[in-house]
Amino acid sequence: MSLALQNIIRSHQITQQSALRFEPESVEFAQDPYATYELLRGQSKPFYFEAADIWLLSRYEAVDAAARHPKLVRSLQSFMTIDEVAAITRRANWHNMPNHSRFVQTSLLDSDGDVHFRLRLIVLRELSKNFVLKVKPTIQAYVDTLVEQTLERQEIDFIADLAAHVPGHIIGNILGVPDEDCPQLRLWSEDVVQFFDVGRTQQHKQLAERATTEFYLYLKDLIADRKRHPKNDLVSTLLQAQIAGELNETELISTCMLILMAGHGSTIDVLGTGMYALIKHPQELQRLRQQPQHLATAVQEMFRYDSPLPFFHRYASEDVVLMGQEFPKGTKFGLLYGSANRDASQFTEPDRFDISRQPNRHIAFGRGAHLCLGNHLSRLDMEVIFSRLIERTRNIEMMGTEPKYKGGLSIRGLETLSLRFTAK
Ligand code: HEM
Repeated sequence: MSLALQNIIRSHQITQQSALRFEPESVEFAQDPYATYELLRGQSKPFYFEAADIWLLSRYEAVDAAARHPKLVRSLQSFMTIDEVAAITRRANWHNMPNHSRFVQTSLLDSDGDVHFRLRLIVLRELSKNFVLKVKPTIQAYVDTLVEQTLERQEIDFIADLAAHVPGHIIGNILGVPDEDCPQLRLWSEDVVQFFDVGRTQQHKQLAERATTEFYLYLKDLIADRKRHPKNDLVSTLLQAQIAGELNETELISTCMLILMAGHGSTIDVLGTGMYALIKHPQELQRLRQQPQHLATAVQEMFRYDSPLPFFHRYASEDVVLMGQEFPKGTKFGLLYGSANRDASQFTEPDRFDISRQPNRHIAFGRGAHLCLGNHLSRLDMEVIFSRLIERTRNIEMMGTEPKYKGGLSIRGLETLSLRFTAK
């Protein structure tokens, strides 16, 4: 097909699609993205979101295929020259973020091919299912103490007073960060990821750069300490890998940052939305109390029902055809994992929260080359917390008005969730 014809078809399609209002920064979208996702899935072609110059894929089959497509990649570097990438990043005004560009925008998540494979293998062996089971007693002990403190208070904001204390602490411990520094990790992580939302402002970029710099200096000191006094932690293991020539210092630091950033906010968010789903479906909560053998499937359902990271991007590294439409090399796609997980063509009654749903092949952890490396750890965190809370309480009820969701396309989580616990 000629380029001119492709352009005519594309502009016709965009005109038709403009009838569909897509406003991911709106309050309405934050409260209920699923109505919009359903409209998107109703389109027979990918939806062009002009404000971000990105083509959105919303159906399960299309998102699944895109996540596994060998020609759809995470990084511009894999199909552009250094000068072309530099020109694009300058246009996007990233040039004033040296540390964020060096350590965050070029992590293993944002690499492809051989580099990605090499770095992924190093992390894979550290966050394997077996490794994670070994840290279970430490997680359990920490969660038990936290839950007991919560029950003493009876009324809490589940997000700030409980969920927010869990993943940063656990990932910090795995990395080798002392307990007293874990709260700071959480703050850095939150500022660093502000950069990734489509609605980011100049202020978000400044915050992200400052937090990255502070985090970098902290990790540099920690690494220097582990050089002198190796310990049984991830920083020491990655350092050994660096000494063995498996990765360089920049990659070591960016991998530590990625592990924290990927796992911190997402786990807090799914703890909150998972708890909210149980409260909004009291029969399912009751069923879980009576049949705790459903815990693992209940946790999987929480990931499907309100996926905490509902959107990731890919670039076409060469011309591709998706959903019967041709796209030129360089096209950017948005993979709406959150929408795919509510697609009726894959899930029976997708809007129903069912703690024993099986099969449940959700895509909350992605698919293919970039499949989440923290999926065992985050599911374990969830299982430990929910099982303890259910064992130790007679009743959990929501206080006040309905909670508000955080805004934007990239994350799904509650701002607050006021709860009252009645201990057994
Ligand atoms: C709590 C919920 C979590 C969710 C929903 C989640 C989701 C995801 C998704 C969807 C991806 C793939 C991104 C893409 O397709 O481009 C991903 C990648 C990744 N996740 Fe997670 N994640 C979670 C927790 C964690 C945790 C706890 C860690 C680490 C401790 C972690 C580490 C990573 C890493 C390192 C990658 C990059 C993998 C690669 O590029 O090969 N995640 N995550």
